[in-house]
Amino acid sequence: MSEASLFDLLPDGSGLAPGGQATGGAALGGEALTGGSPMAAAGVLDPAARDRALAELAASCDACRGCGLAAGRQQVVVSRGNPGARLMVIGEGPGAQEDASGSPFVGKAGQLLDRMLESVGLDSNRDAYIANVVKCRPPENRKPTAIEMAACLPFLRRQIALVQPQVVLLAGATAVEGVLGIKGGITKLRGQWRQWEGRWLMPVFHPSYLLRNASRERGSPKWLTWQDLQDVRRRLAQLEAGDSSAP
Ligand code: URA
Repeated sequence: MSEASLFDLLPDGSGLAPGGQATGGAALGGEALTGGSPMAAAGVLDPAARDRALAELAASCDACRGCGLAAGRQQVVVSRGNPGARLMVIGEGPGAQEDASGSPFVGKAGQLLDRMLESVGLDSNRDAYIANVVKCRPPENRKPTAIEMAACLPFLRRQIALVQPQVVLLAGATAVEGVLGIKGGITKLRGQWRQWEGRWLMPVFHPSYLLRNASRERGSPKWLTWQDLQDVRRRLAQLEAGDSSAP
């Protein structure tokens, strides 16, 4: 078997077709998963106004010199994916490939993230909006400092306010810290739904961590993440069906 990724494998009975849509249960349909729930209705912009506001936000990020990371960047990395999606993925910050390309999660970790989402029938560019806690690459991929995260947080908050995701995947401990202000091991935090500002948040292991932990054994980080992602998929299906009760 090639690089041992649980996310290339779809267990029998998962109800999911490879890279595709649910084959049973509450299907999300073939269309992009668009946001705009009654929950989020207040303050939702129409797509054209939202996209204009996101373009202005991207221009503000480009002009930003709010912390020391700006000096070392090649490009500001703001987002990729669908701003109309119900699902937002938040990572830590750009790596070398993201810095060079200007898009988040395009390197090895990003490719794994794509496969992880695909394994539950989600397309990363169609069904998710992807961003990071910090928009500029920290040197040598170190964790961003509290000052850098605080400087960048208004941009992330604005992205969340404009995209109005109903479900947010927090990829790794830095994303949890950046969004919720909770410091702690991701091993303890992952897999538990949190409600935050009317949204459902699911902390998961960061794909980079999964690249370093290749085991697919029951109970391994990859196996646990597969459980978490199936939970996210079920939650999205529930929301799509109009059920916003607790998971
Ligand atoms: N890791 C992240 O957290 N974000 C990226 O964009 C790439 C790698």
